[in-house]
Amino acid sequence: MVKLAPSILSANFAALLDDVIQVEEAGAEYLHIDVMDGHFVPNITIGPLVVKALRPQSRMCFDVHLMIENPELYVEQFINAGADLITVHVEAARHLHRILSMIREKGVRAGVALNPATPPGAVEYILPLVDLVLLMTVNPGFGGQAFIPEVLPKIRTVRQMLDERGLNAEIQVDGGVNLDTVAAVVRAGASVLVAGSAIFDSADIASAVRRIREAAAM
Ligand code: DX5
Ligand code: ZN
Repeated sequence: MVKLAPSILSANFAALLDDVIQVEEAGAEYLHIDVMDGHFVPNITIGPLVVKALRPQSRMCFDVHLMIENPELYVEQFINAGADLITVHVEAARHLHRILSMIREKGVRAGVALNPATPPGAVEYILPLVDLVLLMTVNPGFGGQAFIPEVLPKIRTVRQMLDERGLNAEIQVDGGVNLDTVAAVVRAGASVLVAGSAIFDSADIASAVRRIREAAAM
């Protein structure tokens, strides 16, 4: 079954815990935490302190998406703060193999993310080292952007690359996932769906989670 990963980038930061509790009670499996440094992407968001503060309040898988330069400098802080899964961008990690190994050695799941323009071959040789491949379906930096349909064939390609090698890493899709786009990404092979604005901009967060799950199952 497909897993849901609400992105708190679109949550109400003045009442963050309330929003986190609502998505957890609605059955979301992952909590997607978007970390931005103002360098890799033109926005600044959340650091390890927020992850640490939320950790005792939730049992969801804390899914930390690092959109930062020099991710190797910060991985340990996020692990100590309580991350269950850390995803680094292939475009930002100078020694991708080294950082993925480092994350796994510390007992945390490791993911690799690809921007829309990055070809799937960029991660071919490290697929056995990852627990998740994140395919961006918007240019990273902001919530609420339009889904880029040209990424759909890349989802299918990565699904095929994993299946051919007998690997069971998750394929996560992030950006513009909503009731209109969810069926296409699931059909292409996604297994974890990030949704920010489609969930937190809704007046009824719990029903938004349920509706996305229903649309994913169709
Ligand atoms: C964008 C972030 C996403 C963002 C998705 O850079 O990585 O996780 O929150 O937001 P929506 O679902 O609104 O496109
Ligand atoms: Zn994200």
